[in-house]
Amino acid sequence: MVRKAVLPVAGLGTRFLPATKIIAKEMLPVVDKPAIQYIVEEVARAGVEDVLLVTGMGKSSMEDHFDRRLDLEAALAAKGKDEELALVRGLSELVTMHAVRQHEPLGLGHAILQAAGHVAEDESFVCCLGDDFLHPESDFVERMVEAHERTGRPVIALMEVPDDQVHLYGAAAVEPTDRDGEFRVTHMVEKPDPGTQPSNLIMVGRYVLPGSVFGYIRDTPPGRGGEIQITDALQAMAAEEPIIGLKLDVDRYDTGDKLGYLQATVQLAAMRDDLGPDFLAWLRGWLAEHDG
Ligand code: UTP
Repeated sequence: MVRKAVLPVAGLGTRFLPATKIIAKEMLPVVDKPAIQYIVEEVARAGVEDVLLVTGMGKSSMEDHFDRRLDLEAALAAKGKDEELALVRGLSELVTMHAVRQHEPLGLGHAILQAAGHVAEDESFVCCLGDDFLHPESDFVERMVEAHERTGRPVIALMEVPDDQVHLYGAAAVEPTDRDGEFRVTHMVEKPDPGTQPSNLIMVGRYVLPGSVFGYIRDTPPGRGGEIQITDALQAMAAEEPIIGLKLDVDRYDTGDKLGYLQATVQLAAMRDDLGPDFLAWLRGWLAEHDG
C-alpha cells in the first residue's frame, strides 16, 4: 500500500520573479486555492495519508497553510461563517503533514533524497512536483499507484510534446506493453540536445517510487546544470529494475511558468459553477471588443 507522498517544493522559482521573491510559487493561488493545495488533495484522493514537504528558505507558509489557525477559526465562528470555517479547518485534516528542509537547492534528485529519513528503503511513495498542475478532478495519481501495486515497478508519468520542445525536459525512450497508454521505459535523458531526443515523451512531475531510489540518488553525481537530477538516478535504476511509464491523458499545466499559470487559472475559473458563467461572459465580451 502506498500511504506516503513526498512533495519537493524547495526550488527558487526564478521563472516567476518578482512574485516569488518572498512568496513560494506553490502558494500562488489558482483561482482561490494555492497550487500546493490541489496537489495535496490529489494525493489524498489516491489514498495518501502522510505528506512530506521538502521545503527551503522562505517556504514555511506552506506548513502554516495546512495547520490550524485558531484566531481565524474563532473569528469565523463568532461571525457565523460556517462554510468558511469548514474550509479553513478542513485543511489540517486532509493528511498528516511533515516538513524537512533542503538546505541548498542542489537539484530535484537531491530534494527527493531529503525524504530518506522519512520513507523506509522498503516502502514506496508518491512524489509530485509543486508546479506540475493536473486537472483538479484527475485520478491519474490513483492510476499510477494502481500500476505500481499491480506490477511492483517504479511508475513515472509521461506526456507527449512537439519535437521542438523535448530539449526543455527529461525525455524517455519506451517500448509498448499490452496495456493502452502503459510503456516500459528503457532509457531516460535530461534535457537532450536538439536532434538527440529518444522520443517526444517527456517526464512530468508525478512518480511512484520505491525507497530503493534513495540508493541510486546517493550514487548520482551532479549532472545537467550542476544539479543532482532525478532523471539520472532513474536512468541508473532502469538498468536494474524495469520502470513503467504511464501516458498522461488529463490536462496538465506548468504553474511555475507564467503562461501555464494563466492557462490553469482561466481553465479552472471557466469550469467553476459559481464563477464560470460570469467569467466567460466577461471574457467573450472582452475578446469580441479587442479582436475587432
Ligand atoms: P524547477 O525546475 O521548476 O525549478 O523545479 P525551480 O527552481 O522550482 O523553478 P525555476 O525553474 O527557477 O522557475 C522542479 C521542481 O523541483 C523542485 C521545485 O520546487 C519544483 O517543484 N526542486 C527543484 C527542489 O525542491 N529542489 C531543487 O533543488 C530543485
